[in-house]
Amino acid sequence: MKKLITLLLTLAMNAGVSAQQSENGDAQAAIKNIMTRTSVRKYTNETVTKADIETMLRAGMAAPTAVNKQPWHFVVVTDREQLNALAAANRGTGMAAKAPLAIVVCGDMQKTLPGVGQGFWVQDCSAATENILLAANALGLGGVWTGLYPNEERAKAVRDVVKAPDHIVPLCVIVIGHPAEQSQPKDKWKPENVSYNKFGEKVK
Ligand SMILES: Cc1cc2nc3c(=O)[nH]c(=O)nc-3n(C[C@H](O)[C@H](O)[C@H](O)COP(=O)(O)O)c2cc1C
Repeated sequence: MKKLITLLLTLAMNAGVSAQQSENGDAQAAIKNIMTRTSVRKYTNETVTKADIETMLRAGMAAPTAVNKQPWHFVVVTDREQLNALAAANRGTGMAAKAPLAIVVCGDMQKTLPGVGQGFWVQDCSAATENILLAANALGLGGVWTGLYPNEERAKAVRDVVKAPDHIVPLCVIVIGHPAEQSQPKDKWKPENVSYNKFGEKVK
């Protein structure tokens, strides 16, 4: 009986240790995914699967939004002519002409908070954009955020391409594909950009 209890206790302890190890592994994998994301602007001809597109959209929609308004709309572009039109509409989105996929992240002005809170849509859609880029990196894809809003002209040009109504404001176009280049993540860690407790105070 004593042997059995010892055996069960050992098994339970081992299970606890391996659960903790796997949690540590998950945390490290999540941090590694954030730290290895980098803008990718050259892609192979391989298409992106529907399953991967849905995974990225789900990641985008998992982002936090002010008062949980989710004031967004995502236009998935895979049609070659449409991708070329996106590339022509905005110089910064030129790589779309040689990409299999672009996701136009838009704010929906009919879903925002009222009044001064309306401006939160930019932060909400930016959070979704970063989630999509991180999901792309985790899936072995590469992407780049190409900015439109607050440049009204660029936002309108892209709205015209995707034939969206006036209350839809494109924030950015995320161009995505299988990487055809090895981009090194940049080291952006700058301790001088951090204060503790009060601006300008450094950790003692
Ligand atoms: C708001 C915003 C707008 C951007 N616009 C463009 C763009 O028009 N074209 C482009 O190639 N990259 C664009 N980028 C990508 C940045 O150039 C890139 O994130 C930056 O150089 C840092 O490199 P990294 O993403 O590899 O860390 C944009 C990024 C942000 C956040």
